[in-house]
Amino acid sequence: MKYYITTPIYYPNSSPHIGTAYTTIAADAMARLRRMKGDDVYFLTGTDENAQKIVRTAENAGVDPHTYVDGIVKRFRELWNLLQISNDDFIRTTENRHVKVVQYIFNRLYEQGDIYKSEYEGWYCTPCETFWTENKLIDRKCPNPDCGREVELLKEESYFFRMSKYQDKLLEHIHSNPDFIQPVSRRNEMIKFIEGGLEDLCVSRTTFQWGIKVPFDPKHVVYVWLDALINYISALGYPDGENYRKYWPAEVHLMGKDIVRFHSVIWPITLMALGIPLPQKVFGHGWFLNRQGGKISKSRGNVQDSFELIQRYGPDPIRYFLLREMQFGMDGTYSEDDLVERLNSDLANDLGNFVSRTLAMVVKYNQGKVPVPGEDAGLEKELKELSCAVKQGAEDKMLACDPAGALEYIWQFVSKCNKYVDETAPWNLAKDPQGKQRLDTVLYTLVEAIRILGILCAPFMPGVPEQLKTLLGTEGLFRDWEQAEQWNIIKPGTVIEKGDPIFPRIDLSVYAEVQSEDVAEKEEQKGEFKEGIQTMQGNIKNLSPELVPFKEEISIEEFAKMDLRVVKVLQAEKVEKADKLLKLEVELGNEIRTIVSGIAQYYTPEDLIGKKVILLANLKPAKLRGIVSQGMILAASHDGELEVLSLSKEMPSGAQVK
Ligand code: MSP
Repeated sequence: MKYYITTPIYYPNSSPHIGTAYTTIAADAMARLRRMKGDDVYFLTGTDENAQKIVRTAENAGVDPHTYVDGIVKRFRELWNLLQISNDDFIRTTENRHVKVVQYIFNRLYEQGDIYKSEYEGWYCTPCETFWTENKLIDRKCPNPDCGREVELLKEESYFFRMSKYQDKLLEHIHSNPDFIQPVSRRNEMIKFIEGGLEDLCVSRTTFQWGIKVPFDPKHVVYVWLDALINYISALGYPDGENYRKYWPAEVHLMGKDIVRFHSVIWPITLMALGIPLPQKVFGHGWFLNRQGGKISKSRGNVQDSFELIQRYGPDPIRYFLLREMQFGMDGTYSEDDLVERLNSDLANDLGNFVSRTLAMVVKYNQGKVPVPGEDAGLEKELKELSCAVKQGAEDKMLACDPAGALEYIWQFVSKCNKYVDETAPWNLAKDPQGKQRLDTVLYTLVEAIRILGILCAPFMPGVPEQLKTLLGTEGLFRDWEQAEQWNIIKPGTVIEKGDPIFPRIDLSVYAEVQSEDVAEKEEQKGEFKEGIQTMQGNIKNLSPELVPFKEEISIEEFAKMDLRVVKVLQAEKVEKADKLLKLEVELGNEIRTIVSGIAQYYTPEDLIGKKVILLANLKPAKLRGIVSQGMILAASHDGELEVLSLSKEMPSGAQVK
């Protein structure tokens, strides 16, 4: 069976964040599962580049839009790479292959009378890239509950798409295809919205030039939503490409709830007008909110850098957390504390521990060799029955676009496996001279259970089979989804390894303690902590320098809170028993301050005495190795090098840096 799945194409006006990553990870898990079932999968993602907001953001950044989007698109690709996203194609709407299809469609719709020229007078919300009539505005602002921002009055010559003509046909399609818009709550919303009456849609703009030109009237650019939706077929080579013939219509368009309206109205009507079959399903998942209930979004400034998170916890744990946390049809909550808690309980305790315990027992009780099993008893039968139910349940949940539900099923099996260990108590069987055959059966069943878990986890955490492969000593064990309900696959006699824990516990106490007391050492330990996690996760690549994540935007007022000063180093000495720390006495105007700085590996005390350097003077004092440090020296670092910032001109100590 063929299976075509898409994510929305993302606006490259800012870097991807965990909210935007969710859809891509969920689509990836669905695509991976279908591939493992032997389906012919095509998985598409990409970027939506012709938006007015891109022009604005690029202008603010002082670069041309092309350069701007190229930079951000690179970050999207890098993030998908780190997260092991297995997309078959990545479409950019600035690519010629897309532009020509949009122009072809616009032309065709115009020629058949579905697009006509008139004048638009109304409002436009640039952040949402949406037209609004005056009566829809709330307090003269954007009525989208997630936006509420200023709208602009537009009065310009425009082309319009006769949406109204297709209203009844669309409603009929939605009614006769209950799965077309999912979940049901969004379907009901959409039916209400369409029944409220569709107006013809303005589909071109003349007040800016960034975008795809209307082929027969090039002072107009195509409205970004019409342009963007077409990506789902332009990437396949519509109208006559081989992939188009093979994969269209899509089985699923996956997206967040905010953009279901565009996919349930503009898109199907465009397809109807072109006489093309409609996709089978438009699925709108919830949003990731922060603990205060606000949507995680770049414009709200509440986004934690996804590159940093992956570096800290690894790609599989981040994937697991996001997929597990967003309950079907609801919003999910994101906080780093919840993330750590979930990783420790589900991955380290439940799954990781089961794997470690089992492998350690095979090493201890059978010299690392998978034993020959004897007859199954009731407990084995129960476990096997559950594995079949779980495999089927997880599969059904994924068909319904519910990765959290699927993972819940899989974790039922994880718990049962742990219970099986406790109930069979292999350590007692090992002591019993009559227990050898039973012990062999139990150990064999346990190794098989790990294999099955590797298969079940593979769509969600593609790194797991990789890790297990080396421990179970055999390849190709985790590729076939159907084998999650088949037993007796691993050959007795296979040599296995105990290995390192696949999901080590995350001990944030190191992190937290250090945070409260000690700045330089915190950095040091944080580094070690990250390093540890990195080695354990194995497959995290180093970020290239330009991809070291930027911190979130701050206002000039926030910047002005930092009191940066020129100081002169009067004294410097090494801190006892701390390889990385120097204690400095610095002159700040009339004041002398003590600073402890983690630069001892780069500077001797003598290098610094007499130097004028930059101090963050209003940093809360912190105790380091018992010494109170009253500020922090600034330095640049890259690739193992570090240089303290200093001045080339003579400036008095105490001079402000701003
Ligand atoms: N460019 C349009 C989509 C065009 S598709 C033909 C767009 N882009 S977007 O970058 O703003 O958003 C892309 C997707 O990310 C949307 O599905 C949106 O719901 C999702 N998310 C953005 N923030 C999110 C959360 N905090 N949580 C979950 N999904 C979120 O819209």
